[in-house]
Amino acid sequence: MKEYDVIVIGGGPGGYVCAIRCAQLGLKTAIIEGRETLGGTCLNVGCIPSKALLHASHSYHEATHNFEKMGLIVANPKIDFEKMHKYKNDVILQNTKGIEFLMKKNKIDWLKGWGQINNLNEVAIGSDIYNAKNIVIAAGSKPSSIPNVKIDENRIVSSTGALALSKIPKSMVVIGAGVIGLEMGSIYSRLGTDVTVIEYMDTITPGMDIEIAKSFHKILKKQGLKFIMGAAVQSAKGNKSKVSVVYKKDEVETSIEAEIVLVSTGREAFMDGLGFTNLGGELTNKGKIKTDSQWNTSIKGIYAIGDVISGPMLAHKAEDEGMAVAEVIAGKHGHINYNIIPGVIYTSPEVASVGQTEEQLKEAGVKYKIGKFSFMGNGRAKAVFQGDGFVKLLVDAKSDRILGCHLIGPAAGDLIHEICVAMEFGASAQDIALTCHAHPTFSEAMREAALACGDGAIHA
Ligand code: NAI
Repeated sequence: MKEYDVIVIGGGPGGYVCAIRCAQLGLKTAIIEGRETLGGTCLNVGCIPSKALLHASHSYHEATHNFEKMGLIVANPKIDFEKMHKYKNDVILQNTKGIEFLMKKNKIDWLKGWGQINNLNEVAIGSDIYNAKNIVIAAGSKPSSIPNVKIDENRIVSSTGALALSKIPKSMVVIGAGVIGLEMGSIYSRLGTDVTVIEYMDTITPGMDIEIAKSFHKILKKQGLKFIMGAAVQSAKGNKSKVSVVYKKDEVETSIEAEIVLVSTGREAFMDGLGFTNLGGELTNKGKIKTDSQWNTSIKGIYAIGDVISGPMLAHKAEDEGMAVAEVIAGKHGHINYNIIPGVIYTSPEVASVGQTEEQLKEAGVKYKIGKFSFMGNGRAKAVFQGDGFVKLLVDAKSDRILGCHLIGPAAGDLIHEICVAMEFGASAQDIALTCHAHPTFSEAMREAALACGDGAIHA
């Protein structure tokens, strides 16, 4: 029987990052992963492959819409979907192999198979038993569906199936206008699919700053995505060639047909065969593993991080928890500022946010100022046809301290980090406004929004 200081269950961004930090801190570490490759949902069937397809479909859109404007004459750009999948699969392979290399480099044993916690300090993979002083559950999440909609990954697909369709469908119904629905819907819409998104709420991406969500909605509609808002999907039934989706809006039931239906109504913790609840491990009322502020579960010596516990289901949140829990196990101080976790939607334009939304500030009775700046006033954005969108900075009315930032525009997912760092340092809008920003960059829009919190933006 092999003994470890730490066994991490799950090789996704939470698990592998945790394993690396444990090894760096001198702990004898193993990682358990049942997939053929490391990297979890994110690298295999999530963030990374979707970014490859978003990039490919965006490039196609540029070739068909903007190349000619720049004097680039490319006759009839065409799509070779099989080759696009090959490009996506190469990207996955490079990334997953990279993680395997990092495991070897850090002398972390990869125990292949699905782990089951049998006893305190004991994990089994089939008949092989491993001992560990500490166990970290980083088992991630799986797509969840709604009643009367059964995912078959053929005609009724989750994001996993949507990333692997054998041909570009003529029509697609997307159930749920959340992050997955809009990213995947954008990909197929750009490739020529007629995409209709059905959303239960009246605004897309519930929880997002409403002004940004409304602007995002407008941009997506301009791009050709169709929306049925305030409608609850009741059922989806498929045959060989199409799926019929029934939804209820204003008490009226209507049906719509499509070649493919994407179910993007959320994800749930993945705990199949894990054995945690058999040992009496406690769950939250939302079916996630209950943890305290130091990622201890209700069972001593077992920790949990990432999508299996509460909080946003984001790879970077899981990574941070992975590092922090490793520090805790090593007897150091592990800390995460959950108020400053950025969220990004990788459509084109991108959408990014951090901190409080305007609605949250209103509800909390906080007096705030808003600094806004449109990308139309940013020379670089205009030069590359990306003037759509704006930055919205929310700051304390009295102290000028930054409370939140929400933006839609080019490279929003990168720009947001200037504000994350500023918020970690307790910076004011004036701190950003007084910082020289290189010209011409998209980042000038961030400074202009900060200037708008004071005496005014220059290029507004
Ligand atoms: P989501 O929770 O973001 O959105 C689900 C949407 O479905 C909601 O707007 C909800 O109102 C709607 N809905 C639920 N039931 C419905 C019904 N019967 N009829 C119509 N609409 C209905 O879920 P999503 O997009 O599946 O994403 C799952 C998780 O994965 C999220 O936590 C997300 O943050 C994460 N993720 C993050 C990414 C990123 O950060 N870029 C990329 C992909 C996933």
